[in-house]
Amino acid sequence: MYPWILPVPEYYARMNTYILQVGLPYSLDHIKDWDEEGRTLCAAMGNANGQRLALDCSCGWGKQAIAMARLGWTVTATDVSASSMDFARQFAAEEQVDIHFQECDMRDLGSQFHAAFDCAVSCFALYELPTDAAIQQALAGIRAALKPGGQLYIRMRDMDFLMEEMPRHSFCGERRVPNGRILCIEDWDFESETHVVAMNAFMREDETRDVDDHLRWTTDTIGVRKRVLRKDVLKRLLQAAGFDPIVFLPQSAPWMPVEVVAHRPTTESPGTNGQ
Ligand SMILES: C[S@@+](CC[C@H](N)C(=O)[O-])C[C@H]1O[C@@H](n2cnc3c(N)ncnc32)[C@H](O)[C@@H]1O
Repeated sequence: MYPWILPVPEYYARMNTYILQVGLPYSLDHIKDWDEEGRTLCAAMGNANGQRLALDCSCGWGKQAIAMARLGWTVTATDVSASSMDFARQFAAEEQVDIHFQECDMRDLGSQFHAAFDCAVSCFALYELPTDAAIQQALAGIRAALKPGGQLYIRMRDMDFLMEEMPRHSFCGERRVPNGRILCIEDWDFESETHVVAMNAFMREDETRDVDDHLRWTTDTIGVRKRVLRKDVLKRLLQAAGFDPIVFLPQSAPWMPVEVVAHRPTTESPGTNGQ
């Protein structure tokens, strides 16, 4: 209905252009805090012990994949956004870590990988799948990609807290460009109990002037729809996909991300496929 709500690959392609050209809305330095990310992942999943095989199935700019590769995991990194993976490849080269990158939709993991990994991670991504059925399909694919006994680490924004707070309009910064300034604002559209739209508006000062001789502004808005993936829904979908046990890690504050570690059982009854 709204032309600025984009499919995931297109949303990130446009977002990445802004990050590259004007450094908004995120700083690459923040993305590149590999040591901090590594500590968080090890606290949740243990250390790499040399040769553990890991899948980051929504690697984006490579934050988790590169942090893990630097700590000794052998990492395969997949994502549906080719432009984000270009960043990740560049950062991996800078860090001199060897990562196998492959474009893959999380929903297709089950047909690509079979009992191949000791662990899998997915951060800030599952709720970008549009429906519960799609999320469950992705989770079933991740379970199939894990070895029996393998663990899945999920991190995501706390959607229960988001729906309580319903934040609006946070200012993400201002940069000078040749014809003036670009300002960026992040906003949320709370569409329904099940879906929200995360939006970024980039307002660019133009060199043209209006009838009152004021500089004009042009606005480029991009948005991506997200499932309001509440903790109880995530738990139900993990159970339905065949994970057991499922552990929600303690949250130090309600605004901190939700972290979950879920296991593919070591032994499974015949015919378990989580679909
Ligand atoms: C907010 S970014 C997070 C990236 C990275 N995990 C991090 O924490 O910095 C979400 C990522 O999920 C990816 N994603 C969304 N839907 C996906 C899907 N269906 N299959 C694979 N990746 C997907 C997006 O392309 C994007 O790179």
